[in-house]
Amino acid sequence: MSVPEVIAIDGPAASGKSTIGKKLADELGFLFFDTGVMYRAVTWAALSAGADLNDEAEITRLAETVIIDILPPSRADGRNCDIILDGTDITWDIRRAEVDRNVSLVSAYPGVRLALTTQQRRIGLRGKVVMVGRDIGTAVMPEASLKIYLTASTEERARRRYLEQRQRGGQASFSEVLADIHERDQIDSTRAIAPLRPASDAVILDTDGMDVDQAFIKACALVCKTKN
Ligand code: DC
Repeated sequence: MSVPEVIAIDGPAASGKSTIGKKLADELGFLFFDTGVMYRAVTWAALSAGADLNDEAEITRLAETVIIDILPPSRADGRNCDIILDGTDITWDIRRAEVDRNVSLVSAYPGVRLALTTQQRRIGLRGKVVMVGRDIGTAVMPEASLKIYLTASTEERARRRYLEQRQRGGQASFSEVLADIHERDQIDSTRAIAPLRPASDAVILDTDGMDVDQAFIKACALVCKTKN
């Protein structure tokens, strides 16, 4: 069977991109690359430096200078990989509600996108990779031979994110998580550069009413059908 060298998975917040993407990568023996962690890492760096998140020039400078490393997991605590920023392990810190609330603002800055997209594309071009994000099929790796746009209703996605956060000890209420997802969808899909949208040749996979295994089986079927 010929397998696509690059699989792009895009979609809105909490649509299951990371869960399905990781399973697919493990199945194929590919690298799993969640590009959202880079935007989260820059947002975390800005928050912990006390930077003004509305200062585009300052945040862009930060994105151009921080060193973000994505390494194999050093601990079995549910992480897919270690996210290291300038030597500090921030794997779980980037999942905090404060980062959730601010990451869409940071990722809308053109200079931030340019800095991070360049690094993402360099990794994607090596092949044998499942890349997940918002603009992989449209901007980062438009040549990917399989592009999946994973989606689900806002309520379903909020429910998944709420349960995830609770498991990690988060205190946010369901309505706060729902409002946050609404707002992020809005910012991500209306920004000027590389907005969230399916590529014209993406396959839309709506996972409402599906569990992880069902969605994974659908994704595997798409892989089998796709030629390089
Ligand atoms: O998938 P996520 O929730 O971890 O992504 C965090 C944010 O990063 C999201 O609100 C939009 C942004 N993002 C992006 O703009 N482009 C990507 N390729 C990945 C994420």
